[in-house]
Amino acid sequence: MSEKIHIFDTTLRDGEQSPGASMNLEEKIQIAEALDELKVDIIEAGFPIASNGDFEAVETISKRLKNSKIAALARASLQDIDRAWEAIKNAKNPRIHTFIATSPIHMKYKLRKTPDEVLELIKKTVTYARNLSPEVEWSCEDAGRSEIEFLYKCIDLAIKTGAKIINIPDTVGYTLPSEYGKIFFNVKNNVPNIDKIILSTHTHNDLGLAVANSLADIKEGARQVECTINGLGERAGNAALEEVVMALKVRKDLMPYHTNIRSESIIKTSRLVSAVTGFTVQPNKAIVGTNAFAHEAGIHQDGMLKHSGTYEIMTPEAIGLKKSTLVMGKHSGKHAFREKLKELGYEIGDNSLMEIFGRFKDLADKKKEIFDEDIIALVDDQVLRVNDVIKFVSLFVNAGSVKKHEANLTLEIEGKKTESSSTGDGPVDATFNAIKKIFKHNARLKLYQINAITAGTDAQGEVTVRLEEEGRTVQAKGSDTDIVVASAKAYINALNKLFVKRKKSIPEQNSQIKVKGV
Ligand code: KIV
Ligand code: ZN
Repeated sequence: MSEKIHIFDTTLRDGEQSPGASMNLEEKIQIAEALDELKVDIIEAGFPIASNGDFEAVETISKRLKNSKIAALARASLQDIDRAWEAIKNAKNPRIHTFIATSPIHMKYKLRKTPDEVLELIKKTVTYARNLSPEVEWSCEDAGRSEIEFLYKCIDLAIKTGAKIINIPDTVGYTLPSEYGKIFFNVKNNVPNIDKIILSTHTHNDLGLAVANSLADIKEGARQVECTINGLGERAGNAALEEVVMALKVRKDLMPYHTNIRSESIIKTSRLVSAVTGFTVQPNKAIVGTNAFAHEAGIHQDGMLKHSGTYEIMTPEAIGLKKSTLVMGKHSGKHAFREKLKELGYEIGDNSLMEIFGRFKDLADKKKEIFDEDIIALVDDQVLRVNDVIKFVSLFVNAGSVKKHEANLTLEIEGKKTESSSTGDGPVDATFNAIKKIFKHNARLKLYQINAITAGTDAQGEVTVRLEEEGRTVQAKGSDTDIVVASAKAYINALNKLFVKRKKSIPEQNSQIKVKGV
Protein backbone atom coordinates (compact mmCIF):
# COMPACT_ATOMS: atom_id res chain seq x y z
CA MET A 1 0.00 0.00 0.00
CA SER A 2 1.32 3.48 -0.85
CA GLU A 3 1.89 6.09 1.87
CA LYS A 4 -1.06 8.24 2.88
CA ILE A 5 -1.24 12.02 2.46
CA HIS A 6 -3.54 13.56 5.07
CA ILE A 7 -5.82 16.25 3.66
CA PHE A 8 -6.39 19.14 6.07
CA ASP A 9 -9.10 21.42 4.76
CA THR A 10 -9.07 25.05 5.88
CA THR A 11 -11.88 26.42 3.68
CA LEU A 12 -13.81 27.42 6.80
CA ARG A 13 -10.83 29.25 8.34
CA ASP A 14 -8.18 30.47 5.85
CA GLY A 15 -10.81 30.27 3.09
CA GLU A 16 -13.22 32.41 5.03
CA GLN A 17 -10.45 34.97 5.45
CA SER A 18 -10.60 35.68 1.68
CA PRO A 19 -11.53 39.32 1.26
CA GLY A 20 -15.24 39.22 0.46
CA ALA A 21 -15.95 35.71 1.71
CA SER A 22 -17.94 35.24 4.86
CA MET A 23 -20.35 32.56 5.92
CA ASN A 24 -23.08 32.31 8.48
CA LEU A 25 -23.55 29.38 10.83
CA GLU A 26 -25.96 27.47 8.60
CA GLU A 27 -23.66 27.87 5.59
CA LYS A 28 -20.61 26.72 7.56
CA ILE A 29 -22.45 23.64 8.75
CA GLN A 30 -23.45 22.77 5.20
CA ILE A 31 -19.87 23.10 4.02
CA ALA A 32 -18.51 21.11 6.97
CA GLU A 33 -20.95 18.29 6.22
CA ALA A 34 -19.91 18.31 2.57
CA LEU A 35 -16.22 18.17 3.58
CA ASP A 36 -16.96 15.32 5.96
CA GLU A 37 -18.64 13.43 3.14
CA LEU A 38 -15.69 14.23 0.88
CA LYS A 39 -13.67 12.45 3.59
CA VAL A 40 -11.10 15.11 4.29
CA ASP A 41 -9.00 13.95 7.24
CA ILE A 42 -9.14 17.21 9.22
CA ILE A 43 -11.46 20.20 8.98
CA GLU A 44 -10.13 23.46 10.37
CA ALA A 45 -13.53 24.87 11.22
CA GLY A 46 -12.54 28.36 12.36
CA PHE A 47 -10.75 30.66 14.73
CA PRO A 48 -12.89 30.57 17.89
CA ILE A 49 -11.41 33.70 19.52
CA ALA A 50 -12.38 35.75 16.43
CA SER A 51 -16.05 36.12 17.35
CA ASN A 52 -18.91 34.43 19.12
CA GLY A 53 -20.15 33.41 15.68
CA ASP A 54 -16.87 31.63 14.89
CA PHE A 55 -16.91 29.96 18.28
CA GLU A 56 -20.46 28.75 17.83
CA ALA A 57 -19.71 27.45 14.32
CA VAL A 58 -16.64 25.48 15.46
CA GLU A 59 -18.47 24.08 18.48
CA THR A 60 -21.55 23.05 16.46
CA ILE A 61 -19.50 21.50 13.68
CA SER A 62 -17.29 19.64 16.16
CA LYS A 63 -20.28 17.63 17.32
CA ARG A 64 -21.56 16.76 13.86
CA LEU A 65 -18.58 15.30 12.03
CA LYS A 66 -18.78 11.62 11.19
CA ASN A 67 -15.45 11.00 9.47
CA SER A 68 -13.17 14.01 9.85
CA LYS A 69 -11.17 15.30 12.80
CA ILE A 70 -11.73 18.91 13.79
CA ALA A 71 -9.08 21.59 14.28
CA ALA A 72 -9.50 25.02 15.88
CA LEU A 73 -6.96 27.79 15.35
CA ALA A 74 -5.31 29.74 18.16
CA ARG A 75 -2.52 32.32 18.25
CA ALA A 76 0.33 31.85 20.72
CA SER A 77 -1.75 33.05 23.65
CA LEU A 78 -3.36 31.18 26.52
CA GLN A 79 -6.62 33.05 26.01
CA ASP A 80 -6.81 31.95 22.34
CA ILE A 81 -5.94 28.37 23.25
CA ASP A 82 -8.58 28.24 26.01
CA ARG A 83 -11.22 29.50 23.61
CA ALA A 84 -10.17 27.03 20.88
CA TRP A 85 -10.30 24.13 23.35
CA GLU A 86 -13.65 25.21 24.72
CA ALA A 87 -15.07 25.01 21.20
CA ILE A 88 -13.78 21.52 20.35
CA LYS A 89 -13.47 19.75 23.70
CA ASN A 90 -16.53 17.56 23.07
CA ALA A 91 -15.45 16.45 19.60
CA LYS A 92 -14.54 12.84 18.90
CA ASN A 93 -11.15 13.87 17.48
CA PRO A 94 -10.14 17.39 18.51
CA ARG A 95 -6.95 19.18 17.53
CA ILE A 96 -5.69 22.57 18.70
CA HIS A 97 -3.72 24.31 15.97
CA THR A 98 -1.54 27.03 17.41
CA PHE A 99 0.98 29.22 15.63
CA ILE A 100 3.48 32.03 15.92
CA ALA A 101 5.54 33.84 13.32
CA THR A 102 9.23 32.92 13.04
CA SER A 103 10.53 35.15 10.24
CA PRO A 104 12.74 38.15 11.13
CA ILE A 105 10.31 40.64 9.57
CA HIS A 106 7.26 39.26 11.42
CA MET A 107 9.05 38.93 14.75
CA LYS A 108 10.52 42.43 14.60
CA TYR A 109 7.61 44.46 13.19
CA LYS A 110 4.46 42.47 13.87
CA LEU A 111 5.19 40.70 17.14
CA ARG A 112 7.86 43.11 18.41
CA LYS A 113 9.58 40.15 20.02
CA THR A 114 13.10 38.80 20.00
CA PRO A 115 13.76 35.25 18.76
CA ASP A 116 14.32 34.18 22.38
CA GLU A 117 10.95 35.59 23.40
CA VAL A 118 9.32 33.70 20.53
CA LEU A 119 11.01 30.48 21.69
CA GLU A 120 9.73 31.11 25.19
CA LEU A 121 6.20 31.54 23.87
CA ILE A 122 6.38 28.35 21.82
CA LYS A 123 7.37 26.40 24.93
CA LYS A 124 4.63 27.95 27.03
CA THR A 125 1.78 27.72 24.53
CA VAL A 126 2.46 24.29 23.05
CA THR A 127 2.82 22.83 26.56
CA TYR A 128 -0.42 24.53 27.59
CA ALA A 129 -2.29 23.31 24.49
CA ARG A 130 -0.97 19.77 24.92
CA ASN A 131 -2.28 19.68 28.50
CA LEU A 132 -5.75 20.35 27.13
CA SER A 133 -5.90 18.60 23.78
CA PRO A 134 -4.79 15.06 22.87
CA GLU A 135 -3.50 16.38 19.56
CA VAL A 136 -1.65 19.64 18.95
CA GLU A 137 -0.49 21.09 15.66
CA TRP A 138 2.08 23.86 15.70
CA SER A 139 2.80 26.24 12.81
CA CYS A 140 5.76 28.54 12.22
CA GLU A 141 4.05 31.38 10.41
CA ASP A 142 6.01 32.82 7.47
CA ALA A 143 8.37 29.83 7.54
CA GLY A 144 9.17 30.48 3.87
CA ARG A 145 11.07 33.63 4.93
CA SER A 146 12.42 32.35 8.25
CA GLU A 147 16.08 31.60 8.97
CA ILE A 148 16.56 27.87 8.69
CA GLU A 149 18.69 27.42 11.84
CA PHE A 150 16.05 29.29 13.88
CA LEU A 151 13.32 27.11 12.32
CA TYR A 152 15.17 23.98 13.49
CA LYS A 153 15.24 25.35 17.05
CA CYS A 154 11.55 26.28 17.03
CA ILE A 155 10.42 22.98 15.54
CA ASP A 156 12.60 21.00 17.94
CA LEU A 157 11.05 22.86 20.87
CA ALA A 158 7.49 22.41 19.57
CA ILE A 159 8.08 18.66 19.24
CA LYS A 160 9.65 18.44 22.71
CA THR A 161 6.69 20.24 24.25
CA GLY A 162 4.12 17.95 22.64
CA ALA A 163 3.21 18.96 19.07
CA LYS A 164 2.35 15.94 16.94
CA ILE A 165 1.95 17.81 13.69
CA ILE A 166 4.41 20.46 12.53
CA ASN A 167 3.09 22.74 9.84
CA ILE A 168 5.56 24.79 7.79
CA PRO A 169 3.57 27.51 5.99
CA ASP A 170 4.61 29.66 3.10
CA THR A 171 2.35 32.37 4.50
CA VAL A 172 3.01 34.99 1.84
CA GLY A 173 3.29 32.67 -1.17
CA TYR A 174 6.89 33.70 -1.80
CA THR A 175 8.87 30.51 -2.26
CA LEU A 176 9.54 28.47 -5.37
CA PRO A 177 8.90 24.71 -5.37
CA SER A 178 12.61 23.76 -5.36
CA GLU A 179 13.34 26.23 -2.56
CA TYR A 180 10.38 25.25 -0.41
CA GLY A 181 11.01 21.53 -0.94
CA LYS A 182 14.55 22.15 0.30
CA ILE A 183 13.24 23.62 3.55
CA PHE A 184 11.36 20.35 4.14
CA PHE A 185 14.41 18.33 3.17
CA ASN A 186 16.57 20.31 5.61
CA VAL A 187 14.05 20.10 8.44
CA LYS A 188 13.71 16.36 7.88
CA ASN A 189 17.47 15.93 8.10
CA ASN A 190 18.33 18.34 10.90
CA VAL A 191 15.61 18.23 13.56
CA PRO A 192 15.73 15.40 16.13
CA ASN A 193 12.66 13.13 16.34
CA ILE A 194 11.18 14.59 13.18
CA ASP A 195 10.19 11.06 12.14
CA LYS A 196 7.89 10.87 15.19
CA ILE A 197 5.60 13.64 13.94
CA ILE A 198 3.61 14.45 10.80
CA LEU A 199 5.10 17.21 8.68
CA SER A 200 2.55 19.48 7.05
CA THR A 201 2.61 21.98 4.21
CA HIS A 202 0.42 25.11 3.99
CA THR A 203 0.89 27.21 0.88
CA HIS A 204 -0.46 30.47 -0.52
CA ASN A 205 -0.93 31.26 -4.16
CA ASP A 206 0.52 34.77 -4.50
CA LEU A 207 2.81 33.62 -7.31
CA GLY A 208 0.42 30.94 -8.57
CA LEU A 209 2.64 28.23 -7.05
CA ALA A 210 0.59 26.96 -4.11
CA VAL A 211 -0.20 23.53 -5.56
CA ALA A 212 3.25 23.09 -7.11
CA ASN A 213 4.82 23.96 -3.74
CA SER A 214 2.60 21.48 -1.89
CA LEU A 215 3.58 18.69 -4.28
CA ALA A 216 7.27 19.58 -3.92
CA ASP A 217 6.92 19.32 -0.14
CA ILE A 218 5.24 15.93 -0.36
CA LYS A 219 8.26 14.74 -2.31
CA GLU A 220 10.46 15.94 0.57
CA GLY A 221 8.46 14.38 3.38
CA ALA A 222 5.25 16.36 3.99
CA ARG A 223 2.44 13.95 4.81
CA GLN A 224 -0.29 16.50 5.51
CA VAL A 225 -1.41 19.10 2.97
CA GLU A 226 -3.42 22.13 4.10
CA CYS A 227 -5.68 23.32 1.34
CA THR A 228 -9.09 24.76 0.50
CA ILE A 229 -11.93 24.07 -1.88
CA ASN A 230 -11.60 26.15 -5.08
CA GLY A 231 -8.30 27.49 -3.69
CA LEU A 232 -10.10 30.04 -1.53
CA GLY A 233 -7.96 31.81 1.08
CA GLU A 234 -6.16 34.98 2.13
CA ARG A 235 -5.21 37.22 -0.83
CA ALA A 236 -4.61 34.95 -3.87
CA GLY A 237 -5.78 31.95 -1.86
CA ASN A 238 -4.42 28.63 -0.65
CA ALA A 239 -3.56 25.44 -2.54
CA ALA A 240 -6.76 24.11 -4.13
CA LEU A 241 -7.75 20.80 -2.54
CA GLU A 242 -9.20 19.44 -5.77
CA GLU A 243 -5.97 20.16 -7.66
CA VAL A 244 -3.71 18.55 -5.07
CA VAL A 245 -5.93 15.48 -4.78
CA MET A 246 -6.37 14.96 -8.51
CA ALA A 247 -2.68 15.57 -9.23
CA LEU A 248 -1.84 12.82 -6.74
CA LYS A 249 -4.45 10.54 -8.26
CA VAL A 250 -3.58 11.14 -11.91
CA ARG A 251 0.21 11.12 -11.47
CA LYS A 252 0.53 8.11 -9.17
CA ASP A 253 3.33 6.95 -11.45
CA LEU A 254 5.53 9.78 -10.20
CA MET A 255 3.93 10.36 -6.78
CA PRO A 256 3.20 6.99 -5.19
CA TYR A 257 0.82 8.24 -2.47
CA HIS A 258 -2.87 8.07 -1.79
CA THR A 259 -5.45 10.21 -0.01
CA ASN A 260 -8.76 9.26 1.60
CA ILE A 261 -10.69 11.75 -0.51
CA ARG A 262 -13.88 10.56 -2.17
CA SER A 263 -13.10 12.40 -5.38
CA GLU A 264 -16.62 11.90 -6.80
CA SER A 265 -17.84 14.49 -4.28
CA ILE A 266 -15.43 17.20 -5.48
CA ILE A 267 -17.72 19.00 -7.91
CA LYS A 268 -20.63 19.08 -5.48
CA THR A 269 -18.43 20.57 -2.74
CA SER A 270 -16.89 23.07 -5.13
CA ARG A 271 -20.33 24.30 -6.23
CA LEU A 272 -21.54 24.58 -2.68
CA VAL A 273 -18.52 26.69 -1.67
CA SER A 274 -18.97 28.92 -4.71
CA ALA A 275 -22.67 29.42 -3.94
CA VAL A 276 -22.04 30.20 -0.28
CA THR A 277 -19.18 32.63 -0.80
CA GLY A 278 -20.40 34.32 -3.97
CA PHE A 279 -16.98 33.56 -5.52
CA THR A 280 -17.58 32.37 -9.07
CA VAL A 281 -15.18 29.65 -10.19
CA GLN A 282 -13.34 30.85 -13.29
CA PRO A 283 -14.39 28.76 -16.34
CA ASN A 284 -10.83 27.61 -17.06
CA LYS A 285 -10.04 26.70 -13.44
CA ALA A 286 -8.33 23.29 -13.22
CA ILE A 287 -10.59 20.37 -12.24
CA VAL A 288 -13.76 22.30 -11.32
CA GLY A 289 -14.06 25.07 -13.94
CA THR A 290 -16.99 24.68 -16.37
CA ASN A 291 -14.48 24.32 -19.23
CA ALA A 292 -12.25 21.80 -17.46
CA PHE A 293 -13.79 18.91 -19.43
CA ALA A 294 -15.16 20.83 -22.44
CA HIS A 295 -13.68 20.34 -25.89
CA GLU A 296 -14.20 23.12 -28.41
CA ALA A 297 -11.66 22.66 -31.19
CA GLY A 298 -12.77 20.33 -34.01
CA ILE A 299 -9.54 18.39 -33.89
CA HIS A 300 -9.99 17.77 -30.14
CA GLN A 301 -13.63 16.75 -30.56
CA ASP A 302 -12.63 14.33 -33.30
CA GLY A 303 -9.95 12.82 -31.06
CA MET A 304 -12.38 12.55 -28.13
CA LEU A 305 -14.90 10.67 -30.29
CA LYS A 306 -12.23 8.17 -31.28
CA HIS A 307 -10.76 7.74 -27.78
CA SER A 308 -11.42 9.96 -24.76
CA GLY A 309 -7.84 9.41 -23.58
CA THR A 310 -6.59 11.50 -26.51
CA TYR A 311 -7.44 14.75 -24.73
CA GLU A 312 -8.65 13.75 -21.25
CA ILE A 313 -6.18 12.81 -18.52
CA MET A 314 -8.98 12.04 -16.06
CA THR A 315 -12.68 11.39 -16.50
CA PRO A 316 -15.35 13.95 -15.53
CA GLU A 317 -16.96 11.14 -13.51
CA ALA A 318 -13.85 11.00 -11.29
CA ILE A 319 -14.85 14.35 -9.77
CA GLY A 320 -18.58 13.60 -9.77
CA LEU A 321 -19.64 15.11 -13.08
CA LYS A 322 -22.16 12.93 -14.83
CA LYS A 323 -22.79 12.89 -18.56
CA SER A 324 -25.85 15.07 -19.15
CA THR A 325 -28.80 12.88 -20.02
CA LEU A 326 -31.80 14.92 -18.93
CA VAL A 327 -33.00 17.86 -20.98
CA MET A 328 -35.12 20.15 -18.84
CA GLY A 329 -38.07 22.25 -19.96
CA LYS A 330 -41.40 23.54 -18.75
CA HIS A 331 -42.95 20.08 -18.82
CA SER A 332 -40.30 18.52 -16.59
CA GLY A 333 -41.63 17.24 -13.29
CA LYS A 334 -40.22 17.37 -9.77
CA HIS A 335 -38.71 13.91 -9.98
CA ALA A 336 -36.78 14.69 -13.18
CA PHE A 337 -35.72 18.00 -11.66
CA ARG A 338 -34.33 16.26 -8.59
CA GLU A 339 -32.45 13.81 -10.83
CA LYS A 340 -31.06 16.73 -12.82
CA LEU A 341 -29.83 18.36 -9.63
CA LYS A 342 -28.11 15.11 -8.68
CA GLU A 343 -26.50 14.95 -12.12
CA LEU A 344 -25.16 18.46 -11.52
CA GLY A 345 -23.78 17.44 -8.15
CA TYR A 346 -26.44 18.85 -5.81
CA GLU A 347 -28.33 17.03 -3.11
CA ILE A 348 -31.04 19.27 -1.76
CA GLY A 349 -33.51 18.84 1.08
CA ASP A 350 -37.25 18.68 0.35
CA ASN A 351 -38.11 22.23 1.46
CA SER A 352 -35.40 23.92 -0.59
CA LEU A 353 -36.16 21.62 -3.49
CA MET A 354 -39.78 22.80 -3.60
CA GLU A 355 -38.68 26.44 -3.64
CA ILE A 356 -36.09 25.93 -6.35
CA PHE A 357 -38.52 23.83 -8.36
CA GLY A 358 -41.05 26.68 -8.18
CA ARG A 359 -38.43 29.10 -9.47
CA PHE A 360 -37.42 26.64 -12.17
CA LYS A 361 -41.03 26.51 -13.38
CA ASP A 362 -41.22 30.32 -13.47
CA LEU A 363 -37.98 30.41 -15.44
CA ALA A 364 -39.18 27.73 -17.86
CA ASP A 365 -42.22 29.92 -18.60
CA LYS A 366 -39.97 32.84 -19.51
CA LYS A 367 -37.14 31.06 -21.26
CA LYS A 368 -37.27 28.77 -24.30
CA GLU A 369 -34.35 26.55 -23.33
CA ILE A 370 -33.14 25.74 -19.86
CA PHE A 371 -29.42 24.99 -19.71
CA ASP A 372 -27.48 23.34 -16.90
CA GLU A 373 -25.94 26.74 -16.12
CA ASP A 374 -29.44 28.18 -15.54
CA ILE A 375 -30.18 25.49 -12.98
CA ILE A 376 -26.82 25.98 -11.26
CA ALA A 377 -27.58 29.71 -10.98
CA LEU A 378 -31.03 28.98 -9.51
CA VAL A 379 -29.54 26.72 -6.87
CA ASP A 380 -26.79 29.22 -6.05
CA ASP A 381 -29.37 31.93 -5.72
CA GLN A 382 -31.91 30.08 -3.66
CA VAL A 383 -30.49 27.27 -1.62
CA LEU A 384 -28.66 29.29 0.99
CA ARG A 385 -31.09 32.08 1.60
CA VAL A 386 -32.90 30.47 4.55
CA ASN A 387 -31.28 32.45 7.35
CA ASP A 388 -31.06 35.80 5.62
CA VAL A 389 -32.13 38.83 7.62
CA ILE A 390 -33.12 40.78 4.51
CA LYS A 391 -35.18 39.08 1.82
CA PHE A 392 -36.16 40.29 -1.62
CA VAL A 393 -39.93 40.33 -2.22
CA SER A 394 -40.70 42.41 -5.34
CA LEU A 395 -39.48 45.24 -7.51
CA PHE A 396 -41.01 47.53 -10.09
CA VAL A 397 -38.80 49.95 -12.05
CA ASN A 398 -39.19 52.66 -14.63
CA ALA A 399 -36.32 52.31 -17.09
CA GLY A 400 -35.57 53.60 -20.58
CA SER A 401 -34.97 57.06 -21.99
CA VAL A 402 -38.36 58.73 -21.52
CA LYS A 403 -39.37 58.82 -17.85
CA LYS A 404 -37.10 59.36 -14.85
CA HIS A 405 -35.71 56.21 -13.37
CA GLU A 406 -37.64 55.13 -10.35
CA ALA A 407 -37.75 51.93 -8.30
CA ASN A 408 -40.57 50.68 -6.08
CA LEU A 409 -39.26 47.94 -3.87
CA THR A 410 -40.57 45.57 -1.22
CA LEU A 411 -38.21 43.76 1.14
CA GLU A 412 -38.85 41.54 4.10
CA ILE A 413 -36.66 42.33 7.08
CA GLU A 414 -36.73 39.81 9.91
CA GLY A 415 -40.14 38.64 8.75
CA LYS A 416 -41.68 42.12 8.28
CA LYS A 417 -42.51 43.50 4.84
CA THR A 418 -41.34 47.07 4.12
CA GLU A 419 -41.77 49.17 0.98
CA SER A 420 -39.79 52.07 -0.39
CA SER A 421 -39.36 53.98 -3.60
CA SER A 422 -36.48 56.00 -4.90
CA THR A 423 -35.15 57.65 -8.01
CA GLY A 424 -31.62 57.32 -9.32
CA ASP A 425 -29.21 57.62 -12.16
CA GLY A 426 -30.49 54.56 -14.03
CA PRO A 427 -32.72 51.70 -12.84
CA VAL A 428 -29.97 49.93 -10.88
CA ASP A 429 -28.99 53.10 -9.04
CA ALA A 430 -32.66 53.79 -8.24
CA THR A 431 -33.02 50.22 -6.93
CA PHE A 432 -29.91 50.41 -4.76
CA ASN A 433 -31.11 53.77 -3.38
CA ALA A 434 -34.45 52.17 -2.51
CA ILE A 435 -32.63 49.36 -0.68
CA LYS A 436 -30.57 51.93 1.25
CA LYS A 437 -33.74 53.73 2.33
CA ILE A 438 -35.06 50.56 3.93
CA PHE A 439 -31.79 49.16 5.23
CA LYS A 440 -29.54 52.05 6.25
CA HIS A 441 -25.80 51.33 5.98
CA ASN A 442 -22.50 52.97 5.11
CA ALA A 443 -21.13 50.25 2.88
CA ARG A 444 -19.54 51.41 -0.38
CA LEU A 445 -20.03 49.61 -3.65
CA LYS A 446 -16.62 48.34 -4.78
CA LEU A 447 -17.61 46.05 -7.61
CA TYR A 448 -20.68 45.69 -9.78
CA GLN A 449 -20.50 43.15 -12.57
CA ILE A 450 -23.06 41.53 -14.86
CA ASN A 451 -22.60 38.30 -16.78
CA ALA A 452 -25.06 36.52 -19.01
CA ILE A 453 -25.31 32.97 -17.72
CA THR A 454 -26.08 31.54 -21.16
CA ALA A 455 -26.52 32.89 -24.68
CA GLY A 456 -29.70 34.61 -25.96
CA THR A 457 -31.58 37.74 -24.98
CA ASP A 458 -33.79 35.70 -22.64
CA ALA A 459 -30.70 34.53 -20.71
CA GLN A 460 -30.49 34.97 -16.97
CA GLY A 461 -28.16 37.71 -15.84
CA GLU A 462 -25.82 36.98 -12.96
CA VAL A 463 -24.76 40.03 -11.02
CA THR A 464 -21.82 40.13 -8.61
CA VAL A 465 -21.66 42.89 -6.01
CA ARG A 466 -18.80 43.65 -3.64
CA LEU A 467 -19.37 45.99 -0.71
CA GLU A 468 -16.91 47.45 1.75
CA GLU A 469 -17.67 48.86 5.17
CA GLU A 470 -14.95 49.88 7.64
CA GLY A 471 -12.37 47.54 6.16
CA ARG A 472 -14.78 44.62 5.88
CA THR A 473 -15.39 43.35 2.37
CA VAL A 474 -18.21 41.08 1.27
CA GLN A 475 -19.13 39.70 -2.10
CA ALA A 476 -22.35 38.09 -3.31
CA LYS A 477 -24.20 37.07 -6.44
CA GLY A 478 -27.81 37.30 -7.60
CA SER A 479 -29.43 35.97 -10.75
CA ASP A 480 -32.66 36.54 -12.65
CA THR A 481 -33.86 36.97 -16.22
CA ASP A 482 -34.38 40.63 -15.28
CA ILE A 483 -30.96 42.15 -14.66
CA VAL A 484 -32.30 44.86 -12.35
CA VAL A 485 -33.91 42.19 -10.16
CA ALA A 486 -30.62 40.21 -10.30
CA SER A 487 -28.81 43.39 -9.21
CA ALA A 488 -31.20 43.93 -6.29
CA LYS A 489 -30.75 40.32 -5.17
CA ALA A 490 -26.95 40.50 -5.38
CA TYR A 491 -26.93 43.74 -3.36
CA ILE A 492 -29.25 42.26 -0.72
CA ASN A 493 -27.21 39.04 -0.53
CA ALA A 494 -24.09 41.14 0.04
CA LEU A 495 -25.82 43.10 2.82
CA ASN A 496 -26.79 39.84 4.48
CA LYS A 497 -23.15 38.80 4.44
CA LEU A 498 -22.10 42.14 5.85
CA PHE A 499 -24.49 41.56 8.68
CA VAL A 500 -22.61 38.37 9.56
CA LYS A 501 -19.21 39.97 9.15
CA ARG A 502 -20.01 42.95 11.38
CA LYS A 503 -20.09 40.58 14.34
CA LYS A 504 -16.47 39.53 13.80
CA SER A 505 -13.43 41.25 15.28
CA ILE A 506 -10.46 39.53 16.78
CA PRO A 507 -9.46 40.88 20.21
CA GLU A 508 -5.96 42.24 20.52
CA GLN A 509 -3.66 40.46 22.89
CA ASN A 510 -0.49 41.32 24.69
CA SER A 511 1.45 38.57 23.02
CA GLN A 512 0.67 39.51 19.46
CA ILE A 513 -0.24 42.67 17.71
CA LYS A 514 -3.43 43.80 15.90
CA VAL A 515 -4.29 40.92 13.66
CA LYS A 516 -6.80 41.56 10.94
CA GLY A 517 -7.32 38.04 9.76
CA VAL A 518 -4.17 36.02 10.39
O1 KIV B 1 -0.68 31.19 6.20
C1 KIV B 1 -0.44 30.92 7.38
O2 KIV B 1 0.68 31.03 7.87
C2 KIV B 1 -1.56 30.47 8.20
C3 KIV B 1 -1.21 29.89 9.54
C4 KIV B 1 -2.15 30.28 10.58
C5 KIV B 1 -1.08 28.40 9.42
O3 KIV B 1 -2.68 30.48 7.77
ZN1 ZN C 1 -2.65 30.61 5.54
